[in-house]
Amino acid sequence: MSSAAQRIEKRLRALGIESLPRNAGVLHGTAVWSDGAGQFYALKIGKNTPRSPTDDFLLALNRTRADAIVTTGQILRDEPGLRFEVGGDLGRDLREWRQLVLGRSEAPRIVILTRGGNLPAGHPVLASGRALIMTGRDASVPEGPQIVRRAAPGLLDTVSYLQKEEGRETVLIEAGPSTSSVLYQPGQHVDELMLSVYHEARLPAGVQGHAFLTASSPDSVGLLEISRQSVREGSGLWSFHRWARLPTGRVLGTP
Ligand SMILES: NC(=O)c1ccc[n+]([C@@H]2O[C@H](COP(=O)([O-])OP(=O)(O)OC[C@H]3O[C@@H](n4cnc5c(N)ncnc54)[C@H](OP(=O)(O)O)[C@@H]3O)[C@@H](O)[C@H]2O)c1
Repeated sequence: MSSAAQRIEKRLRALGIESLPRNAGVLHGTAVWSDGAGQFYALKIGKNTPRSPTDDFLLALNRTRADAIVTTGQILRDEPGLRFEVGGDLGRDLREWRQLVLGRSEAPRIVILTRGGNLPAGHPVLASGRALIMTGRDASVPEGPQIVRRAAPGLLDTVSYLQKEEGRETVLIEAGPSTSSVLYQPGQHVDELMLSVYHEARLPAGVQGHAFLTASSPDSVGLLEISRQSVREGSGLWSFHRWARLPTGRVLGTP
């Protein structure tokens, strides 16, 4: 294994992550605030959001694992500068790890779920050449990216399209709570959850989002906690959890 890939594996081991499947199925990554009583709240992403270098690393890792990333029109409007490419030394190490450990070379597809089609013109994601817009039959959407019109668009329909029509094996969900909550309804809609939890008593103004998940949500949909690690960051105490179904297929990772 190259030294770049070894650096990634070392960081994973420090978080208690010993191996990752090549095909993760439906992978959900999210960062929440804990109220200390078992209820979690989505963290709104913005300039006041408590920073966590570990969460940044895991976000970049998940994007590297994915062969499709699902986001929403709302997120593109909220984050005009959003890009899914990972830059710098970490990006270089992750790309090498992706190729060597996961055997993936093609960049992931970026899928934007939108009902109204009001997407910011010139957004870097739309201009990336990798975007696919999933929408309904009648929405008026910007020219350029590939468009797939569905009779009943939604997150589960999008996942089904990506898996069945495009053969995508690891579909990363990076949607907000109103769209992602369907993953925790009865049924097997999610295969892995990478959860970052911020534990400080207070949040900066404007950062607390909707109530989203409880400490028992992953368990209630059949996920097992595979690893957890607490880390004290500059912003305060965080914990990082990986929940998954029992792995199927080939398990890769540290030899
Ligand atoms: N902490 C985290 O990990 C994390 C991750 C992601 C987002 N966030 C935060 O979450 C917030 C946004 O979350 P949100 O819950 O308000 O919004 P969201 O779930 O990200 O997006 C809602 C939008 O998704 C599209 N959509 C949803 N269902 C659809 C369907 N059935 N068919 C077609 N389109 C559909 C619609 O887009 P259109 O309006 O374009 O029609 C809808 O307005 C932001 O503050 C963001 O910073 C946090």
